[in-house]
Amino acid sequence: MVELALPKNSRITTGKTWPRPLNATNVRTFKIYRWDPDTGENPRLDTYFVNMDECGPMVLDALIKIKNEIDPTLTFRRSCREGICGSCAMNIGGINTLACIYGLDEVKGDVAIYPLPHMPVVKDLIPDLTHFYAQHASIMPWLETKTNRPAKEWRQSIEDRKKLDGLYECVMCASCSTSCPSYWWNGDRYLGPAALLHAYRWIIDSRDEATGERLDQLEDPFKLYRCHTIMNCTKTCPKGLNPAKSIAEIKKMMIERRV
Ligand code: SF4
Ligand code: FES
Repeated sequence: MVELALPKNSRITTGKTWPRPLNATNVRTFKIYRWDPDTGENPRLDTYFVNMDECGPMVLDALIKIKNEIDPTLTFRRSCREGICGSCAMNIGGINTLACIYGLDEVKGDVAIYPLPHMPVVKDLIPDLTHFYAQHASIMPWLETKTNRPAKEWRQSIEDRKKLDGLYECVMCASCSTSCPSYWWNGDRYLGPAALLHAYRWIIDSRDEATGERLDQLEDPFKLYRCHTIMNCTKTCPKGLNPAKSIAEIKKMMIERRV
């Protein structure tokens, strides 16, 4: 079940239906969430029609085409167009994912597009990620060293380096955290799958020397233990990562250090 964080006292209304492209036979319908805080109006769902014979294969291609050719006020984030920057995350057909690597052929029927669920919205499809980034910063996302640093290269065995696979690829898109009911309900104190995946990435880095401190900071009924293994995070991650496994590994380390 997806919950959107709507502006206070508001409800989504039926929005504008934009003109169909002339002489086009291969047309798809897009229903897109629109909200502009400056107007004081309720959010609305606008309907757009896109000629698929003149559109690229990804959802982001359609959004860019709509913005360029139909409605320049449609607002969304994007940059790399290849699943690397993490900026184009949104809810497409009920799934949190990256618009630039999500094929239009993966959506059946009308394409419904909303901002990431249960986040404050800045405008249209843009969520406010201020709190999400602050949580990431709180897990100390850097190599922490206490002893002498090597003058040049800090070597790591192939085995130790392999432990970072499946972790370093995270693009901080927030698809996972915003698909998690625990994060919806306790996101003020539960760190969520993205921040915890990053926490684990530094905990198991063989070069890091703050493992105990990192675990101490996570030993908290909310920060870590609000994960109830619902697994939405792993199911939705557009990069194919497994944040739930990282969280389970941290919990395991917590138990091991007690015995
Ligand atoms: S783990 Fe996946 S879904 Fe979560 S922030 Fe990283 S890339 Fe996005
Ligand atoms: S535009 Fe960079 S991940 Fe989609």
